[in-house]
Amino acid sequence: MTLAPATETTESGRTGTARHFLMCRPDFFTVSYSINPWMHPEKDTDTARAVRQWESLRQAYESLGHTVSLIDPIEGLPDMVFAANGALVVDGRVYGARFAHPQRAAEGPAYLRWFADRGYETLEASFTNEGEGDYLTLDEMILAGTGFRTDVAAHMEAQEFLGRPVVTLRLVDPRFYHLDTALFPLNGHNVAYYPEAFSEGSRKVLRRLFPDAVIATSADAEVLGLNAVSDGRNVVVNAEASGLILELKRRGFEVVPVDLTELRKSGGGPKCCTLEIRPNREIR
Ligand code: ARG
Repeated sequence: MTLAPATETTESGRTGTARHFLMCRPDFFTVSYSINPWMHPEKDTDTARAVRQWESLRQAYESLGHTVSLIDPIEGLPDMVFAANGALVVDGRVYGARFAHPQRAAEGPAYLRWFADRGYETLEASFTNEGEGDYLTLDEMILAGTGFRTDVAAHMEAQEFLGRPVVTLRLVDPRFYHLDTALFPLNGHNVAYYPEAFSEGSRKVLRRLFPDAVIATSADAEVLGLNAVSDGRNVVVNAEASGLILELKRRGFEVVPVDLTELRKSGGGPKCCTLEIRPNREIR
């Protein structure tokens, strides 16, 4: 066994773990309705630019050694690019999304069908929930957001179906309407988050669970810096989140900055575009 030098302060893993992601090309991306404070349908969007930025995110994942699967985009569903909202996949079991707003309702069945067609065990949700937008999975628990989109009853439903403890966190700032806009897992046991996005009680829960968390500033949160994807070593993050990026580097993480400014016009960043497919590691 080799021991790390006692002075080593890095908390990132030496290597990231390879991930499997589902993504959806933003061929039909635009902002035609407003369901969060980032969305201004009266302003212009540039679909070709959204596709270019999305392609560079996909390439970033592939160059890190991750696998990217694709679901076909559907005309008339401009937010379908935000694959994170499509489902929650843990141990190869797929908990389906049931969207809060009618504009996105058809996305839930489209994502669930993608998984069912490929032999995954799926559950159609009985309660409103927006998939990985509001459920972030750690080794021993799932953190679950509520307050804007996902019902607390869906937290219980996900826990029963997936068999992992679900910890409810209340979001209070409408700019951070999904949990994944205010918090991301650094690895299986620690997180980065923006405290002001959470209720007082939920902040206490976060302090208790994660005393060594990375605490983000409002400047980082306002560029959706918390909407990041870490494989335990490499963190794919919006390039403008400069304070957060410095702290991640200080802790030994490799930072992979991306520019998703076009998709931010709909309130999304790199994590929103990314649904993780976690395989079943149980021996059946
Ligand atoms: N316009 C979309 C909505 O408001 C953005 C979703 C972003 N996705 C996410 N996982 N935060 O529903």
